Amino acid sequence: MPVSYTTVGENLLMQFQQIVGKANIIVDEEHKYQYSHDETEDYSFMPDVVLKPGSAEEVSAILKLCNEHVIPVTPRGGGTGLSGGALPVQKGVVVSMERFNRILEIDELNLQATVEPGVITQVFQDTVKEKGLFYPPDPSSRGSCFLGGNLGENAGGPKAVKYGVTRDYVLNLQVVLPTGEIIWTAANVLKNSTGYNLTQLMIGSEGTLGIITKIVFKLRSYPTQDVTLLVPFSTSEEACRAISAIYMAGVTPSGMEFMEREAIIKTQEYLATVLNKKVNIDLPEGINAHLLIELDGNDQEVLMKEAETIMNVLEQFETGEVLFADTVEQKEALWRIRRNVSPAVNYYSLTKSEDVVVPRGNLPKLVTAIKSIGKQYGFNSVVYGHAGDGNLHINIMKEALSDAYWHKEVNEGIGEIFKEVVRLGGTLSGEHGIGIAKRPYMSLAVSEVNLRLMRGIKAAFDPNGILNPDKIF
Ligand code: LAC
Ligand code: ZN
Repeated sequence: MPVSYTTVGENLLMQFQQIVGKANIIVDEEHKYQYSHDETEDYSFMPDVVLKPGSAEEVSAILKLCNEHVIPVTPRGGGTGLSGGALPVQKGVVVSMERFNRILEIDELNLQATVEPGVITQVFQDTVKEKGLFYPPDPSSRGSCFLGGNLGENAGGPKAVKYGVTRDYVLNLQVVLPTGEIIWTAANVLKNSTGYNLTQLMIGSEGTLGIITKIVFKLRSYPTQDVTLLVPFSTSEEACRAISAIYMAGVTPSGMEFMEREAIIKTQEYLATVLNKKVNIDLPEGINAHLLIELDGNDQEVLMKEAETIMNVLEQFETGEVLFADTVEQKEALWRIRRNVSPAVNYYSLTKSEDVVVPRGNLPKLVTAIKSIGKQYGFNSVVYGHAGDGNLHINIMKEALSDAYWHKEVNEGIGEIFKEVVRLGGTLSGEHGIGIAKRPYMSLAVSEVNLRLMRGIKAAFDPNGILNPDKIF
């Protein structure tokens, strides 16, 4: 439904200032600019005002006022999103959650933690790790993304392949609804069959249903041992076929990441020249893809046996020499490469970053299709990602393409990739969300009936359509 929104004028600015205090309101263009973009392409949308509330009550007062005056509100975490979910496309208010940065409780007895949504993911991981506890979701941006944003997009990362994604670790949420009501979605329990699951409805809803102000996570104990191997393959298809074979042999790695040759070349160059953190990986002729495989657990002998099983499986494939990372430094270096592919590729060219997911067994067909569509439409792409989950990132490079071609023909090519993904039983996003970037393609993967249900849920939470407008559908 098209909504006619109110622009924030002087009178409302005064009221917002009364709610958050003078130090927590931004109106000047220069400071607002940093809230106008995230990590998605070159998108930028200026809000009328940025507010930095410090409590659920302040968020509630902001939302009440915005609801009454029909002002768009865009919640924002660390600004690392790759689908434009935190961008104020209809202007209005950006609610930055940066002051919600406290870890409130780590409950060792129940393996739970209560945190605010503005905590940086890695800070949370490191803090619980000091107590021997493990929060597995680990997006590549974990050094700067916020847990709240991870919930909004249902972030994943390499460990998801064994441990699941963000939604698998959330038990309960404090949420402020667009009406200003403050609710808890569930209870801090491991099982719950008490009505609809409002907690899970919030996760992945990209800030369109409510603003999360507290999160209760469940945790695990930290595995004490790990083994990391880097396996070179002759082709991407061969690497993808090996993945299914490894699972069929009964091994469940804690990381099963795919990188094509170009991903490693660009990232090595970027690490050496831009970050001054050189990592050397041999890339002989004829090696066109790698799998970065990690096994974890508490018994080194078990892990070595699993590694042996993997080596046996690999004998059926065209591989190069497998690199076993011996030291912590070597393991870190390999993961540094993997985690920096996205920033590296984006350093060399503007990209459109895709996040498709198919049943694992269809990955070989998918990698073939991506390259052949790229050839047909005349664009280069760098393919990498969480292949154990069937989840590939495709960074399509603008390089020397004209703006007009980039916005029209390249988008048509992306549509073709998405159609192929759906034909292969997959869908548009595994962990980055739809936001504004994938929104034009939603109907390729989601039926009209499902979209109607989603719109109905949206209307039940947000009757005036103020919260994060124009996202998802
Ligand atoms: C990654 C981000 C782009 O996997 O999701 O590196
Ligand atoms: Zn990823």
